[in-house]
Amino acid sequence: MQWKIFRTPAVLFCAAVMLANSFSNFMPPTPVPPGTTYLEPSPQRSGDPATGYQYLLYGDFVSSGIPLRVFKKVSGSSSPDDLGRSGDAAGIPFRFNVVTTANGAKVVAPTCLTCHAERLNGQIVVGLGSNTYDHTNDASANFRAADMAVKFSYGEKSPEWEAYLPASRATKAIGPYIRTQTRGPNPADKIFASLAAHRRASDLSWIDEAQFDIPAETVPTDVPAWWLMKKKNALYYNGLGRGDFARLASASGMLTMLDSTEARRIDSQMPDLMAWIRTIEPPRYPYPIDQELAAAGKKIFEKTCYKCHGTYGDSVSYPNLLVSLEKVGSDPLLSNAYKIHPEYHAWYNDSWYGQGSNKGQLLPNDGYVAPPLDGIWATAPYLHNASVPTLEDMLNSTQRPVYWKRVFENTEANYDQAKVGWKYSVETAKTGVDTYDTTLPGYGNGGHKFGDRLTSEERKAVLEYLKTL
Ligand code: HEC
Ligand code: HEC
Repeated sequence: MQWKIFRTPAVLFCAAVMLANSFSNFMPPTPVPPGTTYLEPSPQRSGDPATGYQYLLYGDFVSSGIPLRVFKKVSGSSSPDDLGRSGDAAGIPFRFNVVTTANGAKVVAPTCLTCHAERLNGQIVVGLGSNTYDHTNDASANFRAADMAVKFSYGEKSPEWEAYLPASRATKAIGPYIRTQTRGPNPADKIFASLAAHRRASDLSWIDEAQFDIPAETVPTDVPAWWLMKKKNALYYNGLGRGDFARLASASGMLTMLDSTEARRIDSQMPDLMAWIRTIEPPRYPYPIDQELAAAGKKIFEKTCYKCHGTYGDSVSYPNLLVSLEKVGSDPLLSNAYKIHPEYHAWYNDSWYGQGSNKGQLLPNDGYVAPPLDGIWATAPYLHNASVPTLEDMLNSTQRPVYWKRVFENTEANYDQAKVGWKYSVETAKTGVDTYDTTLPGYGNGGHKFGDRLTSEERKAVLEYLKTL
C-alpha cells in the first residue's frame, strides 16, 4: 500500500513531473515486499521515433546476408508484403531488410523482427515477441549450401561475396550451439554467448577459434513484448541489462559486424529505434469482456498482484521489482546461467559495449523481474521460458500441463478465449519438436503459485480483468 502515494499536493506534483519524464521513474514501494529488490533506473539517450522506425524497416544494423538475387531465386520472388515496404525491400519477408553495402552489393540481412514480430489473429504485430518460429534446427547447413550458390553466381572476388561472408562465417560457427528443444522459445541468450566467444572484447573483431567453452545448455526464453520496455528500469527477464538500453540492444550487430567501428555506427542510430519502441502500445483484447466480472477481478488483483506487477487503468504505476528465485520459484536455469558462466557478462562489461558515457552493463541477479502485464492476453505462452500455455494455467499451477502441444498458427480460430492463450492439447510424452516438454532443464513450468491461493471464482474474475490490460 505504501507506494500508492498520490495524496499530498507536493507528491502529486512530483508524480506529474515523473510521468512527464518517463515511466521508468515510478517510485518503488517502500519498503519493497519481502524477497524483492528495486531495480534503479539509469539515464537513457533520447532519439527520434520516426527515424527509428525507418531504421528498423530499412536499416543496416545487420549489414551482411544473402545476395538479393540469390535470395529471390531460392525463396521464390515474392512473399506477402506484411510491412508495406517500398524499394528493394518490397515483397521481402518481414524478418529481413535489404541492405546496400559501400561496394554496391545488395544483401538480405536478418533483423530484430526475426524475433520481435509475430502474427496475432492473422496480422503481423511489430513488437510482439515471436512465439512460433522454429529454432530447433542448425542453420549452418543452409549456409554451406549458400556458400556454393554465392560463389557460383558472383565469384570470390565480388562485392557480393565480401558482403555475404560475415553472415556465413558467424552462422556456421554458432549454428550448432543455438538450437532449442522445442519450437516456439528463443535461443537469444545463447546466441549472445556464442558470439562473445568469437569476438575480441577490445575491438569486437572476429576470432575463428572460440576463446571460451561455449556452454552446453541452450536456455530457452520467450521474447518479451517491446511495448513493455517503456516501463522498465532494467532489461531482460532477470534484470541483467543495465545502463544505456540503446547500447544494450545494439549488440545484435555482433552477428556480422566487422569490428567496433561498425558497432559505433550501429550504436549511434539505436537511440532512435529505442525512442520508437517506447511509442508502441499493446493491442486491445478484441473479444467480449464481462465488465462486471473484470471489475471484481481488478479488486482482487489490486490486493494480491499489484505489489509486484503494478496498477493499470486510471492510476498507472509499475514498481520495477526483481523477485528472488526462492520467492517466485520458476525455472532457475536462466537466472543461474550468468553465475555458472561469469566469463560472458565479464566479457561484455570489459568490451567496447561496456565503455564510455553511454555504456551498457550486464549485472547478473538472483531471480526474475515481475513484468508489466499490459497486453498480456496477446503474449501467450507465459513465464520467461514460455512454458505455461494460457493465463488460466498461470493462475492455477496445479493444472499446468507437463507435456503440451499447440498449433503454430496464430489465427482467431486457434485462440482460446476461455483459457486466454493459444489452444493446445495435453500430451503424455514428447513426440517431436512441436511438443513442449516441461521436464527438460530450463523448460520447467513450476513456481509463480500466487494464483493458487485464490478461490476458483476469484481466479475467474482475475482472468477476466487480465483481458482488459
Ligand atoms: C534471435 C532473436 C532476437 C533478435 C534478432 C533480437 N532480439 Fe531482442 N530479445 C530477444 C530475446 C529472446 C529477448 C529476451 C532475452 C532475455 O530477457 O533473456 C530480447 C530482449 C530485447 C529487449 C529487452 C526487452 C525487455 O523488456 O527486457 C530489447 C529492448 C530488445 N530485445 C531489442 C532488440 C533490438 C532493437 C533488436 C534488433 C537490433 C533485437 N532485439 C534483436 C530476441 C531477439
Ligand atoms: C512476489 C511478486 C509477484 C506476485 C505477488 C505476483 N507475481 Fe506474477 N510474476 C512475478 C514474476 C517474478 C514473474 C516472472 C516469472 C518468470 O518469468 O519466471 C511473474 C509473471 C507473471 C505472469 C506471466 C508474464 C509473462 O509475460 O509471461 C503473469 C500473467 C502474472 N505474473 C500474473 C500475476 C497475477 C495475476 C498475480 C496475482 C494473482 C501475480 N502475478 C502475482 C511476480 C509476482
